[in-house]
Amino acid sequence: MLSRVTLLTLGAVALTTGRAVRRDTADGFPNPNATQLEFIQDMADGTLSDAPPPPSLNESSIPIFQLINFNENFEVAFFTSLIKNITTDEPGFTLPAEKKDEILEILVTVLAQEQLHAIDASNVLKHFNATLVPEPCTYTFPGAIDINSSIALAATFTDVVLGTLQDAAEGLAINGDLGPIREVASIIGQEGQQSGFYRLLLNQKPSQKPFLTTNVGAFAWSALQQFVVSCPFNISEIEIPVFPSLQVNNATGGPAIAPRDQRLSFVANLTGSSEAEQFVNDTDPALFVTYFSGQLLPISVPVEDVEWFGEDSTQLRFEAEFPFEEKVLVGLTIAALTTSDNFTSYGEVVGATIAAPGLIEVADGELGWNLLSGEEL
Ligand SMILES: *[C@@H]1O[C@H](CO)[C@@H](O)[C@H](O)[C@H]1NC(C)=O
Ligand SMILES: *[C@@H]1O[C@H](CO)[C@@H](O)[C@H](O)[C@H]1NC(C)=O
Ligand SMILES: *[C@@H]1O[C@H](CO)[C@@H](O)[C@H](O)[C@H]1NC(C)=O
Ligand SMILES: *[C@@H]1O[C@H](CO)[C@@H](O)[C@H](O)[C@H]1NC(C)=O
Ligand SMILES: *[C@@H]1O[C@H](CO)[C@@H](O)[C@H](O)[C@H]1NC(C)=O
Ligand SMILES: *[C@@H]1O[C@H](CO)[C@@H](O)[C@H](O)[C@H]1NC(C)=O
Ligand SMILES: *[C@@H]1O[C@H](CO)[C@@H](O)[C@H](O)[C@H]1NC(C)=O
Ligand SMILES: *[C@@H]1O[C@H](CO)[C@@H](O)[C@H](O)[C@H]1NC(C)=O
Ligand SMILES: *[C@@H]1O[C@H](CO)[C@@H](O)[C@H](O)[C@H]1NC(C)=O
Ligand SMILES: *[C@@H]1O[C@H](CO)[C@@H](O)[C@H](O)[C@H]1NC(C)=O
Repeated sequence: MLSRVTLLTLGAVALTTGRAVRRDTADGFPNPNATQLEFIQDMADGTLSDAPPPPSLNESSIPIFQLINFNENFEVAFFTSLIKNITTDEPGFTLPAEKKDEILEILVTVLAQEQLHAIDASNVLKHFNATLVPEPCTYTFPGAIDINSSIALAATFTDVVLGTLQDAAEGLAINGDLGPIREVASIIGQEGQQSGFYRLLLNQKPSQKPFLTTNVGAFAWSALQQFVVSCPFNISEIEIPVFPSLQVNNATGGPAIAPRDQRLSFVANLTGSSEAEQFVNDTDPALFVTYFSGQLLPISVPVEDVEWFGEDSTQLRFEAEFPFEEKVLVGLTIAALTTSDNFTSYGEVVGATIAAPGLIEVADGELGWNLLSGEEL
């Protein structure tokens, strides 16, 4: 462990009321030198694994690590921005002094942990001579305008990651890469601990579902595009498909909807989608909304009240049932517009997808703890 004094001489922290609050420049991320890595590990309450890398890695596993690395770089930027907003009392991000210190201490730890997740993935890519190791990009955080909306965004993207890492673990197994699976499982638990904390801050029970909602890499990769302003590399070189996004219209100011059976309205911009061409202007197309929730097999419902609009009629608006009661769709549901139904696996859905993902969050009741309000417990 580095002493606080050493940390201070690194010039990377300022001490406020006895707690370390980092500044975001001195850690050398994403390429820290030995001293900087020691600093990050100290902030993260743990180190990178010291096990040797596996003897080989299947080429097919490279995009899995590129996606993990890319996503972790995004998370590092998000938490850096959130810490800065809270530290500088940005409007909407002001907290009472005591809570401010404690939440910052937690987030500073999370940031360093995410940095190590990113460095771990990039070390794998570097070791196996991947042609592209994603560097951090410039990002935007749509909807994150105050502490509550920002934590809600963190809760949702963490839920998405929790589903995506399931797909990563299965992909590595299929590719014969048993070596890194244990570590991926360890990160799943780690992100789950974070998710529980964000949920509690949002007045929700920390554990969301008995089996967390699964996801597929291509939907995670598509969802990440909305945060990217620009990257210092050609993002298309990461060989994962990007789908047009599926907007859930009923969700206002975030992905949250009410806990009940309902008809949802969706919109997708299908300009330039060759998969969508054959359906344009068809008001009764054989299209479905396919939902992922928990470990249920994909749930498909037909699209209804279809409307094509916009220049070239390539914007699509439609409705679909959300079977909340029957399937107990509490927590994260991931929606896709698909050309078939009756799926027996998650991977199959990717091949039949026209637009995805639509992210839906359903909260089941509210606790009264109000950890983000100014009041005492
Ligand atoms: C790492 O970089 C920092 C900042 O440039 C520098 O102060 C430190 O001496 C470097 N440490 C090593 C081991 O190179
Ligand atoms: C930080 O504040 C800025 C300005 O209000 C906002 O645009 C950004 O989304 C915030 N970042 C996070 C992570 O909430
Ligand atoms: C990566 O490339 C270097 C330099 O060409 C080579 O020495 C090394 O064996 C390669 N690593 C792997 C895992 O193939
Ligand atoms: C590499 O991954 C591909 C795709 O999953 C698989 O078909 C192939 O058998 C794997 N190779 C090895 C050596 O396991
Ligand atoms: C980016 O990569 C894609 C896929 O390899 C390629 O088709 C495209 O031409 C590249 N774009 C640039 C600007 O290099
Ligand atoms: C969702 O929006 C559609 C279309 O505007 C509407 O028919 C439906 O009732 C809305 N559902 C809810 C729960 O508000
Ligand atoms: C739809 O997508 C196309 C291609 O990405 C884009 O040029 C166009 O501006 C989008 N239209 C709307 C209404 O968002
Ligand atoms: C769809 O309908 C619009 C409006 O009638 C028309 O302008 C457009 O050419 C049609 N597109 C196709 C592919 O049929
Ligand atoms: C999907 O399965 C249901 C129930 O088994 C059946 O009624 C329906 O025709 C199937 N749909 C397709 C497109 O095969
Ligand atoms: C955040 O939500 C809590 C209750 O959940 C509320 O007391 C607080 O005022 C909200 N903060 C902002 C900035 O909206």
